[in-house]
Amino acid sequence: MTELSMKKELEALKIENQLLKELLSQFPQAIDHSSIHFSHQTEKMMENQLHHNNGRKMDFSITSDMFEVAESILYEILDHVPHHIVFTDKNGIISLCNLQAARDLKVEQRDVIGKHIRELLKLPDEKIIILETARTGTEVVNKEVLDRNYGIINTRIIYDADGSIKRVIGTFQFLNRFKDAEKQALAGRIAAGIAHEIRNPLTTVRGYLQFLQGSVDNEISDLFESLLIPEIDRANKIISDFLRIAKPTKTKKEFFQVEKFFNDHLANFLNSEALLYNGSINYDISPDSASRFLEGDSDELIQVFINLFRNSLEANQDQRLSIQINVKLVENWLRISFRDNGKGINPSILPYIFDPFFTTKDEGTGLGLSVSRKIIENHHGIMEVDSSKEGTIFTILLPVEK
Ligand SMILES: Nc1ncnc2c1ncn2[C@@H]1O[C@H](COP(=O)(O)OP(=O)(O)OP(=O)(O)O)[C@@H](O)[C@H]1O
Ligand SMILES: [Mg+2]
Repeated sequence: MTELSMKKELEALKIENQLLKELLSQFPQAIDHSSIHFSHQTEKMMENQLHHNNGRKMDFSITSDMFEVAESILYEILDHVPHHIVFTDKNGIISLCNLQAARDLKVEQRDVIGKHIRELLKLPDEKIIILETARTGTEVVNKEVLDRNYGIINTRIIYDADGSIKRVIGTFQFLNRFKDAEKQALAGRIAAGIAHEIRNPLTTVRGYLQFLQGSVDNEISDLFESLLIPEIDRANKIISDFLRIAKPTKTKKEFFQVEKFFNDHLANFLNSEALLYNGSINYDISPDSASRFLEGDSDELIQVFINLFRNSLEANQDQRLSIQINVKLVENWLRISFRDNGKGINPSILPYIFDPFFTTKDEGTGLGLSVSRKIIENHHGIMEVDSSKEGTIFTILLPVEK
């Protein structure tokens, strides 16, 4: 390569570099803003910028050919930006659509180039802010948008050498996911409120049924005893379980020894139940874990094992129910595995068994495992499942005191 051609190439690279810098400097500041509360700050920054330019609008003008080259290079960068970025010409025809926009709006990037922005957004023209900017020549700064999508939009204009609009750049901070999470939290709070309110009249009805039991015929009294009161108790239990998952609860704090918890406390509850069904429960507690302490609410943890035990019982087929509980110390964690010899869980439903109200049983409510996992999480632990045709293993990790 001659010195002259090297110089020329260097010159061309310098121009390209300058071009990219200028294009990037034209982007709306909201690219790195995550809150609409910053909007007034951004407006201030823009005011300052205008002030710097002696009140003139920034005149960024480049020749058409150079612009197209720069646009194609910009793609590489803009595909890594986690917001929607779309370039259109003054008529709303798309010349650039970054990866995030294409993904969230469920289109192929290359398919939308050359199409009108309304085809991408599927909105009427009067609702499309990029078109409004192209029509009025007014840029939009951090405007909250709520149509089919929810987010913060910014637009900027790039002018051609002759002063006409070359491109309108729209950046959109897509907040649908936050909105959905907010909606779910709200629905949870409302449901928890309703559930709580239903409990009071139920308690009153139960009280009156008990009160009236002595003054009605034996037949009706039996009906109270065998059907009405148990049904109210069942409804109450569902509500209590549901509230446990829906509402953040404070876990009682106490220290208890691992060995005592399993051998005295838990065994008291489970062994007699197992005997009743002609089943057996075997405990294997490693010596190094036995003397360690757990912190939390031992009654709640007992509830977890009762729920697991009931599931194992209900999954039991022809053979004798056999449950193996192993407890080990793994660094500062207690690793508890609860294994049964039931029919196992079909892999197709395994991902859903911890979901509230997921059940495969006619009489089940599907709250047992979601309540159990919630209790374990309240104790800063983890609960997982593994299953095969030979049976099911629930593994629980709980932090132990040092
Ligand atoms: N040990 C197990 N063996 C086989 N299937 C199980 C076992 N544990 C849970 N399952 C499956 O997971 C589902 C959800 O269990 P979960 O305890 O949450 O609800 P449930 O037992 O159906 O109802 P309940 O609210 O009365 O506990 C069950 O319906 C069952 O299909
Ligand atoms: Mg259950």
